[in-house]
Amino acid sequence: MKRDFLTVWDLSSQETENLLRRAVDLKTGKDRNSCPLIGKSIGLIFEKPSTRTRVSFEAGIYQLGGQPIALNPSELQLGRGETMSDTARTLSRYLSGIVIRTFAHSTLETFSRDASVPVINGLSDLHHPCQVLADLMTMLEKKGRIKGLKVAFVGDGNNVCNSLIEAASSMEFNLTIACAEGFEPDAGIMEKARESARSEIVVLRDPKEAAGMADVIYTDVWVSMGQEQYSDEKKKKLQAYQVNSRLLSCSKKDVIVLHCLPAHRGEEITDEVMDGPHSVVFDQAENRLHAQKALIEMLLT
Ligand code: CP
Ligand code: NVA
Repeated sequence: MKRDFLTVWDLSSQETENLLRRAVDLKTGKDRNSCPLIGKSIGLIFEKPSTRTRVSFEAGIYQLGGQPIALNPSELQLGRGETMSDTARTLSRYLSGIVIRTFAHSTLETFSRDASVPVINGLSDLHHPCQVLADLMTMLEKKGRIKGLKVAFVGDGNNVCNSLIEAASSMEFNLTIACAEGFEPDAGIMEKARESARSEIVVLRDPKEAAGMADVIYTDVWVSMGQEQYSDEKKKKLQAYQVNSRLLSCSKKDVIVLHCLPAHRGEEITDEVMDGPHSVVFDQAENRLHAQKALIEMLLT
């Protein structure tokens, strides 16, 4: 049966651990010449802009011996009204897997229902699971462990935050989310995560309290793609949630700073922090490549 990766919870904790181990091996050059995707093509449909996700998938698929095919939705018949379902059925006849970045998460669910090949979520309004695989890999690389870490997510309770909540419950790290009223993460995901978590997952208002003794501080843009219509109001309400050196001084001395990127420097994060000694954001961006190669191997070979 085909396996999709639409949310972090589509992999068990054990599978995620195995995937991270494999990603580390791939990063260190183990099996450099292994080409498990020879003869296979993988489609990439992006309905929103992307630098990291698109390029890391394209490069990763090529490095594994496969052919990435970037499909601009406006150049597909999708742009003329062909349904996602019919597109999924058709593309499944040519491709061995499909990566999609879209708006509503339900679009991905429809696509995955009708595709007979694995579908990977390259970001939806609700989840960004591929990002979080790289985040977990970065925590492991920099801190030597994931379980028991204290992670603070500061800012907007968005798609990245939702996927991080799922990861906290499956990988047993403690997650404190500091956000302004009205910008909390998805309530359904929170509830489910809390039911199954053996670690602490908390939402509070005070960013300093969240950053207190944190091993990891994570932030993301205040206005996600597709939400531009609310941007002025949202930015005002999130002003107090900037990750700056004052906030870092509340955390552990060896805290690491994560950001999925792209960053809006001067809004959710200052230049000083982004370019400072605690920032590991470009290692985190690199790890997209290794984690996704391990994911593709797991789902497609
Ligand atoms: N972090 C991330 O997904 O970046 P892109 O939007 O550039 O793909
Ligand atoms: N939350 C951001 C992540 C971008 C990688 C967005 O959805 O735009």
